Amino acid sequence: MPFYQRLGDVPRKRHIQFRDNGTLLTEEVMGMEGFVGMESILYHLQSPCRVMKVGDFEEMKRDEWVPDTHTHRHFKTYGIDAKGDEITGRRVLMWNHDVEISLCRPKEQMDYFFRNGEGDEVVFVHEGTGTLETIFGNVPYKDGDYVVIPRGTTYRFRPEGDQRYLVFETPGLIEIPKRYRNQYGQMLEGAPYYHRDIHPPTELNPHREKGDFPVKVRVRGGYQTYVLDYHPFDVVGWDGFLYPWTFSVHDFEPITGRIHQPPPSHQTFQGRNFVVCSFVPRRLDYDPQAVPIPYHHSNLQSEEMIYYVSGKFGSRKGVEVGSVTLHPSGIPHGPHPGLAEKAIGMTETHELAVMCDTFYPLKLTKFAKDLDDGKYAYSWYEEPGAPATAEEDPAGVTSHF
Ligand SMILES: [Fe+2]
Repeated sequence: MPFYQRLGDVPRKRHIQFRDNGTLLTEEVMGMEGFVGMESILYHLQSPCRVMKVGDFEEMKRDEWVPDTHTHRHFKTYGIDAKGDEITGRRVLMWNHDVEISLCRPKEQMDYFFRNGEGDEVVFVHEGTGTLETIFGNVPYKDGDYVVIPRGTTYRFRPEGDQRYLVFETPGLIEIPKRYRNQYGQMLEGAPYYHRDIHPPTELNPHREKGDFPVKVRVRGGYQTYVLDYHPFDVVGWDGFLYPWTFSVHDFEPITGRIHQPPPSHQTFQGRNFVVCSFVPRRLDYDPQAVPIPYHHSNLQSEEMIYYVSGKFGSRKGVEVGSVTLHPSGIPHGPHPGLAEKAIGMTETHELAVMCDTFYPLKLTKFAKDLDDGKYAYSWYEEPGAPATAEEDPAGVTSHF
């Protein structure tokens, strides 16, 4: 994160004595890039290395689906069953060596703590409210929030009611796009969001509690469990640049133009060889000659995955809430037949969608295969004279897609 935060008690200088009721606290520097990247300094009541028991290692297995054909795909995900918890319930839909994209509808509550030891995470909360309890303090979340969790953060979800997430995990970093910031890290005038839209942990409640506390850590392609004899949220204070935070998609200020704006204007985060974009309700292109629906395009070096959150999706027929489309590299895509004409004169869109463009091909899982509608590839093909029905054609709004 490009700005400094402090919560709880910290000593006046780094690396000096800091005591709690006379006991020297354990200072932990949690940082990136070998002491030259972003870091935070945390003060623990107990050593974070103190492990009572090294538990089991569970290997993560992905069931890859290698389709027979290379084509555009549409996965209908809204009806998936609730399963597992906020970690075990993540079902990978597609992945490459830069990002893993999962769906999650948790059914159970976590009875352990989790830490991703090999990647940053963004959890997009499609449905649900609750609190992400973390070693840095509590992070409340609600529908429409992106919950950004840097690697190394010990946490557990405390959800309220039903939850539905789209989850991105990356071995790289999740960052605010560089072009939105000045040389000092401050977000620029003209960036689609600002520091006030970013919500760090709000309260820190150090736990002084002994017991059995399992912590599951994602490392080396699996989960290693450790059992601690002291509550892992034993931090009395911290400061630095590294911490979990939320940003609401509803606070993304759309950039619009007289003619169609390209997808980078919707960019929300940058990752290693991928971007995450937010398509939010907005005014459409206002030139009298504008075609407000997007032009056809070939993303020759990108794969384009879109998750449809709410609203009507003007350039896509048959797409519904919870749909995921994948437009892979090598073949063009664009609005469905007739929709460009129909979009002319439209002034606004109410759609909400999250897109992830990757610069390297995505692999699919058997879970994705089960959700594939199998006919999306033909959705641009029209029998001559066959008009689209109103149901098939929800035009009235448009989008990038
Ligand atoms: Fe596209």
